[in-house]
Amino acid sequence: MKPDVTGFFDDATNTISFVVKDPQSDSCAIIDSVLDFDYASGRTDTGSADEVIEYVKKNNLRVEWLLESHVHADHLSAAPYLQEHLGGKIGIGENITMVQDTFGKVFNEGTEFQRDGSQFDKLFVEGDSFHIGQMRGDVLHTPGHTPACLTYVIGDAAFVGDTLFMPDFGTARCDFPGGSSEMLFNSIQKILALPDETRIFVGHDYKAPGRDEYAWETTVGAQKSLNVHVGEGKSQAEFVEMRDSRDATLAMPKLIIPSLQVNMRAGQMPAPDEEGDVFLKVPINKL
Ligand SMILES: [Fe+2]
Repeated sequence: MKPDVTGFFDDATNTISFVVKDPQSDSCAIIDSVLDFDYASGRTDTGSADEVIEYVKKNNLRVEWLLESHVHADHLSAAPYLQEHLGGKIGIGENITMVQDTFGKVFNEGTEFQRDGSQFDKLFVEGDSFHIGQMRGDVLHTPGHTPACLTYVIGDAAFVGDTLFMPDFGTARCDFPGGSSEMLFNSIQKILALPDETRIFVGHDYKAPGRDEYAWETTVGAQKSLNVHVGEGKSQAEFVEMRDSRDATLAMPKLIIPSLQVNMRAGQMPAPDEEGDVFLKVPINKL
């Protein structure tokens, strides 16, 4: 089964959101949506999410799932906004509870912040399957970038989130709390064990030296032979050394502080105060 896949590129965060449609019905899933956020002014904007809503409505699609590949650290999820307008169940990996535990502490969240994943409609584990119309999706647990990262294999397409990027760019960083380059290497082997012709859709693209266009679709075969970080059978030791030394040079993503607070709540803002005002925190010298 070959799902129809439409990518929406967000220039502000280099994120690709996907609408994945069952070719035999109007059912679809939306993967890794974006709520625009201007940190300087503290203002949200639904422009990116509205584009997806317009596409879904124009094509008369029925949204069954709002899937998150992981708790993103670089953009806010629009899943609750999409759910309000389009329906669908919000799903993420079961290890979200580890992420909630880690960042519940970092942000000194009180006991009202549940760390059991209950903000989400569905927590997936390795081996779970789900349906989009008649089309089946399978869940691979692919930790390393974060402990809760999932890859959704839907028909001949794998949505790998932040594990592999395009072959000329390589792989995702592993230096966030709970990340591990050893684990990411092993997770990537799971993805590369899929049939060579499997289409791979990546969660971000930053172009690469010598490439002028953004891209987000490749194949398992291309990743195996061409990926600059793991292709041509690179060993785990080689990968770990490269990944860890590179990660040590990377700055934190611009929106990590707001993103984590919102995304660990399934895209909801923290509860408003007595006046109805909503605030995010900035932990000092914690990240
Ligand atoms: Fe990420």
